[in-house]
Formats: sequence, C-alpha cells, structure tokens
Amino acid sequence: MTDHSESLPTVAVVGLGKIGLTLAAVFANHRYNVFGADINPDVTASVNQGISHIQNEPGLDELVWAAHQNNALSATTATAEAVSQADTIVVIVPVLTDEQNQIDYRMIDRAVEDVANGIQKDALVIFETTLPPGDTENRFGKMIKDISGLRPGRDFDLAYSPERVYSNQIIHDLEHYPKIVGGINEKSLERAADFYKTALGCEMIEVSSPETAEFAKVAECVYRDVNIALANELARFAEDKGVQMTEVINASNSQPYANIHSPGIGVGGHCIPIYPYFFINKGLSEGLTPLSRKINDNMADYAITKIEERIGSLSDKNILILGLSYRGNVKEPTKSTALMLIDQLQEKGANPFVNDPSFSDREIRLYDAAPLALNDQHCSEIDVVILQAFHDAYNAIDFSHFTNCQLILDGRNKLNQKDINRLGIAYEGIGNEGGLPF
Ligand SMILES: NC(=O)c1ccc[n+]([C@@H]2O[C@H](COP(=O)([O-])OP(=O)(O)OC[C@H]3O[C@@H](n4cnc5c(N)ncnc54)[C@H](O)[C@@H]3O)[C@@H](O)[C@H]2O)c1
Repeated sequence: MTDHSESLPTVAVVGLGKIGLTLAAVFANHRYNVFGADINPDVTASVNQGISHIQNEPGLDELVWAAHQNNALSATTATAEAVSQADTIVVIVPVLTDEQNQIDYRMIDRAVEDVANGIQKDALVIFETTLPPGDTENRFGKMIKDISGLRPGRDFDLAYSPERVYSNQIIHDLEHYPKIVGGINEKSLERAADFYKTALGCEMIEVSSPETAEFAKVAECVYRDVNIALANELARFAEDKGVQMTEVINASNSQPYANIHSPGIGVGGHCIPIYPYFFINKGLSEGLTPLSRKINDNMADYAITKIEERIGSLSDKNILILGLSYRGNVKEPTKSTALMLIDQLQEKGANPFVNDPSFSDREIRLYDAAPLALNDQHCSEIDVVILQAFHDAYNAIDFSHFTNCQLILDGRNKLNQKDINRLGIAYEGIGNEGGLPF
C-alpha cells in the first residue's frame, strides 16, 4: 500500500455525522488528506478502523474503507488539534430548534470554539450547516476572531456553502447538485469555489455573500414546507368534497406548471420542520411560512381525529404505528411525526406500538412505545394501524395477521385500499376517501 497522504492538501471536517462523514470520505477519495473531528468517541473509533457508522448510505462503506486504506482519513475527538493541521476547515455540526422552536446553537457554538482554538493563519473556514442568514459572518466569524485574535478576511478566509443533499443518495447528490457558495470577500469565495471544484468535482453557483447562500438554503426548505402545507390543505378539502386527492394530483400535475406535492400525516426530519424557524424567528413571523408550519404540524392531530370518527374512543385501543423514522428507508427519528402520534395516543389512553425495521426493540422503547414485529402473534390484538413512514419492507406487508384490526390509516397514501378492504378492514388515506370493508 502506498501512502500518498503526506503531500496532499489538508482538510478538517468538524462533525462526522451522516453528512460530515460522507463529505470527509468523498474529499479523502479526491486526493485530500482529511482530519475528521467529532465529540463522539465511538464515531471517531469506527472511522479510524475504516468503518462507517452511518447506515443506508449507498457507497459510503466502500469510500470510508478506501480512504482508510490510503491513510487519507483519520478521526479524533480533539477538534482544535485536527483544525490546526488543516488548510481548509469544513464545519458541519447541526443547529436545531428546541421545544419552543427557538434556535439551539449549543452544539455548533462548542464546535466553533474548538475551531477558533486550533485555527492557523491563512486557513479557509467554510460553514456547511444550515444557518439563519447572517450567522457565518456575524456570529461565527466574530466568535473565531474573539477567541483566536485572527481577523476574518485578513488573517483567515471565510465562506458558506449549504449542504442540499438527500439522505440515501448523498454521494450521488454531492456530485450532481450544483454547490452554492458565498464568501465574505472575493478571495474567500474564490478559494472556497476552487476547493469544491477539486474536492467534489461538481458545478458551482457563486453568489454575492455568505448571507445569500444561507438564505438560499433556508428558502428551499420553506418552499417545500409551504407546498406540502398546500397539498395538505387541498387534501383535507378534497375529503370534505368526497374527491380522491391522489387522482386529482395525477390529473393536475400533467400540466407543466403544476407541481402539487404529496399530502401526508406530517413533515419530519432534520430540515423541513426546523429551518423555517430560521426565518420565522428572525422577522418573518407572519404569512405563509408560519402558517404552513402550523398546517403541517396539525396533520398528526387530524389523522387521530379521523381515526376517532371511525372507531370512537381510543381508550385502551392497541394502535400500531408503522415507521418510527420521519420518512421511508432512512433511520432518522428527528422531529418524526411518529413521536407526535405516540404522545397524542398516550394522551387519549391508547396503547401505542411501533414497528420500524431500522430500529432495535431497545431503541423503539426509548420513544415510549412498545416494539412489535409484523410476524408477532400479538398483531392479532391490534385495533388500528397507522402507516407513518413507508419503508420498502412495507411493500410486502400481509395484513391478514391483523385479525382484530378495524382500520388502517394510510398516512402516506401508499397502501392498496382494495386489498385491505377485502380483509374486512376499513381504510383511510390522507385526502383519499375511506373505503369500508367488503
Ligand atoms: N441529514 C441530512 O439529510 C441533511 C441534509 C442537508 C443538510 N444537512 C445539514 O447537515 C447538518 C449535519 O447533519 P447530519 O445529518 O450530518 O447530522 P448528524 O446528527 O448525523 O451528525 C452530527 C455530528 O456532529 C457531531 N457533533 C456534535 N457536536 C459536535 C461538536 N461540538 N464538535 C464536533 N462534532 C460534534 C455529532 O457527534 C454527530 O456525529 C444538518 O444540521 C444540516 O444543517 C443535513
């Protein structure tokens, strides 16, 4: 094995989660020497053995292993030390919102303090985490300056480039989606754009400031949230009128300017339910953006009301939620609608059960629900099934074991209503008129 790492340009990737590890592995396979940093020692230990701790990300296991074999990727919990060895520093540690939807900077603030303690003169720092517009320069540039004494734009370069990839296809998206980049001055922009051209090999969209790049990413998320809210509003109205929303969408979207999104039981994950608050809390407090958040967060409540209308009180009913993850085929419980459903079912005195092929029974119990395998004999005691996330494994579900089930609420409009009705079980979709058992 030849070790090429010594002569290669150096990058520190701070935060080795789903996105950070993927970036680190891709950079390392594009002739960069990558120092990964993460506060979780289990993560750094596995990376140092060439093993990805992220599941269901096509191609990632192989890239991490190849980088390890070439000595191009190492990991540490000592962020400042990793940063001190790097020409370029990429920060990809999340900013979340708390229970009151206020912005929670705790994780990234700690990471940036570490960056400031390690940064060397003439380094380039790029933030990739989705941020409220203005934060790269006004919050983090200032924080690095206050701690390190180095001035952004003079002693180090500073840029922002949002991560716009989709879980399950990150490696593909890194190569194929254009990378938006904004720098605090021309040199920062040029250095950041040059870095991505070689480290990712993708097309670049250079914008006039980090704030524009930050705004563009949040705007994408708001666009999705508002359009999903519209689909949900139309779906509820279609139900009122006895019209099938799935049929409406197929018909409407045949016109090139129509792109009605899919209605559903709720919006979850790291991005869409969180980032609109980066606008709402910074002044966009009225209009479509906050209203859409409310409409989408009300969908779980709406689904439960539909169930009550069909079967009466939920007290003591056994209700199975299919999918703990916020969407199909990923293992991501952040802001999943399943969590809202569990809470609301408990408030109604029901017994929530959860099935999710990506989570162990122990993990499911952490969310206050009982795990249930789809071949378990207790399936016959389930009164209602709610499809929350449509994993591929659910294509082949055999509901004939659910001998006591009165209703299946299809929160993603994916199941076959006729097959369900044939088993003597009622069906309800979102925006799709329910079918009674034959
Ligand atoms: N997951 C997605 O699909 C997605 C898509 C687009 C953009 N993004 C952006 O990427 C960001 C990261 O997402 P992710 O999915 O990789 O998150 P993640 O939760 O998988 O990973 C975050 C990592 O950061 C580490 N970390 C936390 N605090 C740290 C600190 N102080 N220093 C060093 N490491 C620290 C954690 O241990 C964890 O490994 C998101 O917040 C979002 O802005 C994510």
